[in-house]
Amino acid sequence: MREPIIIDTDPGQDDAVALLLAFAAGDRLALRAITTVAGNVPVAQTTINALRIRDLGGADIVPVHAGAEGPLVFPLETAEFVCGPDGLAGAGLPPPKSTRAPGHAVEAIIAICRAASDDGITLCPLGPLTNLALAFRLAPDILPKVKRIVLMGGAIGLGNMTPAAEFNVHVDPHAAAIVFDCGRPIVMFGLGVTLQAIASHEHVERIGALGNATGRAIHGMLTRPRPGGLGTAGHPMHDPCVIAYLLWPELFAGRDCFVEVETGAGPLCGRTTIDWNGRLRQPANAHVIGSVEAHELFERMIERLATLP
Ligand code: BDR
Ligand code: CA
Repeated sequence: MREPIIIDTDPGQDDAVALLLAFAAGDRLALRAITTVAGNVPVAQTTINALRIRDLGGADIVPVHAGAEGPLVFPLETAEFVCGPDGLAGAGLPPPKSTRAPGHAVEAIIAICRAASDDGITLCPLGPLTNLALAFRLAPDILPKVKRIVLMGGAIGLGNMTPAAEFNVHVDPHAAAIVFDCGRPIVMFGLGVTLQAIASHEHVERIGALGNATGRAIHGMLTRPRPGGLGTAGHPMHDPCVIAYLLWPELFAGRDCFVEVETGAGPLCGRTTIDWNGRLRQPANAHVIGSVEAHELFERMIERLATLP
């Protein structure tokens, strides 16, 4: 049976690869909707980008709903310094052929969850957790229908926006705290594992040589010259790890842990404290992934991406 999923995303280059991998999942996943959120770039642009990627992958059937314009409490911080001015710099993609679906992303998440079978639905957030937090607060009745949340966010060690915080949690720590406290099963992909999933120059060349438009777009994004030496040691495929886990969980290993999100002002804001060794004696609220068989991951990803237009 296909696993029903919603991808909540802020494309973003690695989000784009994650979406494409989901489109290439064959009979494994039933992608009910793509919901967008402000993150790498403002939500008007992440929505346009989701539509452009949907066109590229030939996935017109999947509705795209635009979501939150900014975090629950803080002003929005974006990451054009990583993704370029439009979030997909180098992809060479035209403007979208199609338009977004009516209805706010949060309403769509609530409606899809309510309509899900008793087996529930898997939520896959790849950006700040604002839409999920709003949905859980507005409609807590959907929680029993959330089979699991498989997310990219946080870090066991150093952050990438501050010494303490990874980008998705840094942008909206209050939303992340709501999600980690929601009581549903969570699988967490933080920087500890996603920085093991580095697309090397050889991987990028192989993807570019696939002979399809998908491969050319990914190659363009990942070979674009970037300031400050970014990308010279390869490109972390943070968000694709989430989709890869749904397809090939055997490639990943982790532990059930207690995770707490720091929301107080100061240099630790946005930190995810992960009790890897169970010192705090708190009940686990997430399965934290710690390692990936990266070689096999890229072999399988490249094989799947070759099946797209
Ligand atoms: C996360 O931040 C974003 O820029 C990426 O798309 C990914 O979701 C990595 O910290
Ligand atoms: Ca992202």
